[in-house]
Amino acid sequence: MNDVALAEQSTAAKTFPIPDGVFAETVTEVQHYTDRLFRFRITRPQSFRFRSGEFVMIGLPNSAKPVMRAYSVASPAWDEELEFFSIKVPGGPLTEHLQKIKVGDTVIMRPKPTGTLVNDALIAGKRLFCFSTGTGFAPFASLIRDPETYEKFEHVIVTHTCRQRDELKYSHDTVKNTLEDPLVGEVAQGHLHYFPSTTREETQHMGRITELIKSGAFYEAMQIAPLNPETDRIMVCGSMAFMKDIRSIVDALGFREGANNDPATYVVERAFVG
Ligand code: A2P
Repeated sequence: MNDVALAEQSTAAKTFPIPDGVFAETVTEVQHYTDRLFRFRITRPQSFRFRSGEFVMIGLPNSAKPVMRAYSVASPAWDEELEFFSIKVPGGPLTEHLQKIKVGDTVIMRPKPTGTLVNDALIAGKRLFCFSTGTGFAPFASLIRDPETYEKFEHVIVTHTCRQRDELKYSHDTVKNTLEDPLVGEVAQGHLHYFPSTTREETQHMGRITELIKSGAFYEAMQIAPLNPETDRIMVCGSMAFMKDIRSIVDALGFREGANNDPATYVVERAFVG
């Protein structure tokens, strides 16, 4: 046996105990969309409760002190499993390993969910706009599948901007499945509206959502009235640069940022990055 084979054998044989105070859950499904994005599902601990839109810290039991990162729960609160939508970053401390998980593997998870992209952080309104880029769609995958969202808002308009067409598959499928779902489909039909766009590959809607809002092309394509702080509430999730740009647009329109303890007209959260 050469040195490399020996090293591989010893790494494989090495197991690490599950740290105290975390759940150890089993991977039930993995779906890769591109070389940058994938989705996976894990079993849900019986005692785990969360509000749709919140995130949890997850990791792998691959070291004595595992790297844990914030992941929005992409499944709704009623789902018996937990779903996550992840980026794959070459050399990323967690995603380099996480992207290789298979059904039956263990994922660890801290028990306390948190986050600002929750219905409670917004005052009542007529339309809810959810603006996302990349994996920032994850919290909205949860919220659009939660019947409560439709009790609070008459219309839910969710946007997803990615570089390429294949990166939109997760949001496309989730919206489609939501509309066909026996539980939430009935309340979502006619009330859930989806606007996908790409920036580096030709699709029906091209361009950053920020630019499409500014030019009015977004409103025109959706045949809706422009953003109005009197009637509309906004949630934003994506990269730092995207959040900064959306903020300046909605601040200028008179929206005010809210929090769990101070609900207002918009909330933002950074999508997980590596
Ligand atoms: P672009 O291709 O013009 O950079 P990423 O995969 O890098 O996280 O990007 C996801 C999507 O977010 C891409 O379509 C990207 O467009 C878009 N994006 C990046 N920065 C911004 C920004 N500041 N405002 C709006 N969209 C952005």
